[in-house]
Amino acid sequence: MTAAANSIDIDDLGARAETMIEALGVISEEPTRLVRRFLTPEHRRAADLVAAWMREAKLDVGEDALGTVRGHLAGASPKRLLIGSHIDTVVDAGRYDGIFGVVAGILAARHIARSGIPLPFSIDVLAFGDEEGSRFPATLASSAAVAGIFDPARCAQVAADGATFGDAIRAYGNNPDDIAAAAYRRDNVAAYVEVHIEQGPVLEADNQPLGVVTAIAGQTYFTVEFSGEAGHAGTVPMRLRRDALAGASEAILFAERVAREYRGEVVATVGRLVLTPNAANVIPGNVTFTLDLRTTSDQTRRDVAERFRNEARAIAERRHLGLAITQTRDTPTTPCDIRLQDGFAAAASALGYKAPRLPSGAGHDGQAMSKLCPVGMLFVRCRGGVSHNPAEYASPRDMGIAVAALIEFILRFDVGAFSR
Ligand code: HGY
Ligand code: MN
Ligand code: MN
Repeated sequence: MTAAANSIDIDDLGARAETMIEALGVISEEPTRLVRRFLTPEHRRAADLVAAWMREAKLDVGEDALGTVRGHLAGASPKRLLIGSHIDTVVDAGRYDGIFGVVAGILAARHIARSGIPLPFSIDVLAFGDEEGSRFPATLASSAAVAGIFDPARCAQVAADGATFGDAIRAYGNNPDDIAAAAYRRDNVAAYVEVHIEQGPVLEADNQPLGVVTAIAGQTYFTVEFSGEAGHAGTVPMRLRRDALAGASEAILFAERVAREYRGEVVATVGRLVLTPNAANVIPGNVTFTLDLRTTSDQTRRDVAERFRNEARAIAERRHLGLAITQTRDTPTTPCDIRLQDGFAAAASALGYKAPRLPSGAGHDGQAMSKLCPVGMLFVRCRGGVSHNPAEYASPRDMGIAVAALIEFILRFDVGAFSR
């Protein structure tokens, strides 16, 4: 273990992390559940709290046009290691998803700044505000801007609350014209790393506090619309119906059945469904739902998507329904750089932990950041693997171990290997 890591108090780090998680966990748009969406007043309050923590950690704090808070710790060279995650949440969220990665980055930088160890590189801790896509149709806007791949056309996107992306930026006090300036120059960045709760049951089953991520699963998103004919629930015979919900239900069960065929390699989720007119005594005339397909094999994902499209067409034809399928996302699998994987494995081992290697079924900002630089991720165990749920929980002890491993990783990081 490195000298600075020897001076680490894991339980103190864990207690600090828990206090910070609690403080952010009460900043919500709603009184009875955690909802914190991009460019809202609650995003502003959370960003201000994160900025205050960064200043207390002796970081120079800045913010870009999409509200990403950046804490800079200057080292011997301007080449920087980026450490980040997101502070936005899903609806009815847990308190750890994303937030713990920002807290871990701040606590690790705080420890190093206070230990006075001269770093051969600089560190930027990044708090992204749009990983979940809870407000606007697309996701990863803030990390895309940092990575230099933000598409300005996204400023015309409209949220469910009617605001356009561009209006939301202006209401937040920024100018969409400044988004391009958020991008790092490639030669200024060595790598991006993220600490995140696993959001799955593997580490708990293996009785390991830490895991090293091998890849972030690719995602295909569809918006699927079946249109039939609304009618009287009591008078239209079954043989004469064009029931949009019955057709959609067949398609949804087909997606589930196909995913199960791949024995765990594929997951398919319909998380959002809207039917009209949504009245108990009216045959549904229209149904629109989202389909989220994920697997670490891009070819398998393409195969499953094609099978779904073919079956949906066959169902629509059989039931005389209209069908519109729009692909709204097609993100290839993002591999984690093997040198960063090995760096996290060595750091965990220095602390006495095995840290199994595993893929991430969940998406992360690293998918956008991989367009800028090599990416790596460290997972921390979470209770029951539960996430996107208020029951989400990581113990202070495990969080302390994860921050200690991040510190150890940083102190061992060979910036030269990422500068060629
Ligand atoms: O959907 C995801 O995997 C991430 O939580 N945004
Ligand atoms: Mn999430
Ligand atoms: Mn997340």
